[in-house]
Amino acid sequence: MSEFHVTRILPEDAMAAALRADVLNGLTSDPKTLPPKWFYDAHGSELFERITELPEYYPTRAEREILAGRAAEIAAALPARTLVELGSGSSEKTRHLIDALPRLHTYVPVDVSDSALEQAGRALVAERPGLNVHALIADFTAGLTLPHSPGPRLLAFLGGTIGNLLPGERAAFLAAVRGLLSPGDALLLGTDLVKAEDVLVRAYDDTAGVTAAFNKNVLSVVNRELGADFEPDAFDHVALWDAANEWIEMRLRSRTAQTVKVPALDLAVHFAAGEELRTEVSAKFHRTRVTTELATAELELTHWWTDTENRFALSLSVAG
Ligand code: SAH
Ligand code: AVI
Repeated sequence: MSEFHVTRILPEDAMAAALRADVLNGLTSDPKTLPPKWFYDAHGSELFERITELPEYYPTRAEREILAGRAAEIAAALPARTLVELGSGSSEKTRHLIDALPRLHTYVPVDVSDSALEQAGRALVAERPGLNVHALIADFTAGLTLPHSPGPRLLAFLGGTIGNLLPGERAAFLAAVRGLLSPGDALLLGTDLVKAEDVLVRAYDDTAGVTAAFNKNVLSVVNRELGADFEPDAFDHVALWDAANEWIEMRLRSRTAQTVKVPALDLAVHFAAGEELRTEVSAKFHRTRVTTELATAELELTHWWTDTENRFALSLSVAG
């Protein structure tokens, strides 16, 4: 029989404290910033799923193509008994991997979004009799302890979500991931690749406005959780390519001069007309940079797969 457990590693009060600290730091910095993990309340997670279906947003389709075509090779390279997935969201593409791993005993999806974990976990145990699902509500940047389950372990970090970490955060994250791997385990990493600027910008500024709604959702989260009075329509969605850093940046640009109150922090935040708040970076990679960053964390890249249009890559690496 399958089992489904959810463990809340991040207690709700710790999550509330983390949001308060991030909002206080971010809105009193110059330039103003908010970290992207706060996009993903239940509504934000739903909006992200809609993004993955947009004609302009190619990463999900490209990564799905690789997973569908290469799942058997991945499983042969690492016949995992435990699959851990960081930032698992809907776990939709992961089904290709799950189905290719005949000895899989436990799937451990890890996410800050409890709604996404509940929905994905319940669907999986219903669809895959015999699979144990142990979901963790946790921040994957905050030091993870994994539940006991049989090895070898495959740790998957898909979707290009590693690109949402700033370079220093990425280095710390990869070092922590290395610490979770025992001999015989591996990391399966999804990275979006550098490509033509117009293709990249369109993927983050779709004509239907779904990405704009996703971007503004962070303001609704701050309103609900901290009693703030952000007016989402008083901000414009901005997506731009930063060629020097090789990342897409999402911002919210204040349409007018305005002051926003955040009562839970006893804070009033002034925005000048046209002032921008950075809400996300989404770094894009070349193979050399992925290899080097992994190597710095003592992870050795052993496999590299791309989709047929060379838009996205999956790499497998082992403790070096
Ligand atoms: N892996 C899925 C979902 C990607 S969206 C895919 O490829 O389609 C990014 C996911 O990471 C969201 O579900 C979000 O809730 C989660 N996430 C973002 N920051 C996180 C953090 N710091 N800790 C845990 N989960 C995080
Ligand atoms: C989750 N992450 C990889 C997405 C990305 O493409 O950076 C989040 C996203 N932001 C805007 N659209 C999608």
